[in-house]
Amino acid sequence: MSQREQKKAEAIETWNFVFPNQSNPYGNMFGGELLAIMDTTAAMAAIRYCGRTVSTASSERVIFKRPIFVGDRIKTVAKVVLVGRTSMMVRTDVFVDKGGDEGDVLSTTAHFTLVAFDDERNPAEVPELIVETDKEHKHHELAQQIKAHVGRREERIKHVVEKWS
Ligand SMILES: CC(C)(COP(=O)(O)OP(=O)(O)OC[C@H]1O[C@@H](n2cnc3c(N)ncnc32)[C@H](O)[C@@H]1OP(=O)(O)O)[C@@H](O)C(=O)NCCC(=O)NCCS
Repeated sequence: MSQREQKKAEAIETWNFVFPNQSNPYGNMFGGELLAIMDTTAAMAAIRYCGRTVSTASSERVIFKRPIFVGDRIKTVAKVVLVGRTSMMVRTDVFVDKGGDEGDVLSTTAHFTLVAFDDERNPAEVPELIVETDKEHKHHELAQQIKAHVGRREERIKHVVEKWS
């Protein structure tokens, strides 16, 4: 039996200027626009990690902590923090670049689960994640808790989902 590859995850950063057409009527950045940037950056991180094409299976625990305004510069940082056999959970943080003493201010955090595919679009095995630093352990543990929580939630609502599907 071949040994599963082990790998460290790389943090992927994307930068954006927030344009007026990305805002809601009150001048805040529209959440859907932000999620598109976060999902795309998460996909980049997952692709770099597994070297395959991927699709987003779910997004969890999206926390819009501080608003983002038109004209803000935003930095989105995504990194694989937990893997299953074919899926990867990617923590994605968005910071507003305030400059000066304030620096980067955390605005939004979400966890996306992406699935890797082979050439026939069947789920394909991803490398095992190497978790080393304190920060990586912290993020890994949070991701495990989110995954466990989602599992319990799905179990609780299973009968409703079955009834209405
Ligand atoms: C994501 C998708 C491939 C999963 O297909 P599936 O038939 O459930 O595949 P499997 O049962 O083999 O599961 C594959 C992996 O996905 C995970 N998965 C499936 N559905 C999931 C969900 N809703 N949330 C989190 N993980 C999920 C499984 O746990 C499994 O992970 P593991 O191998 O690490 O244990 C399929 O539902 C799909 O193609 N969805 C559409 C994706 C899409 O269009 N996204 C938006 C644009 S990118």
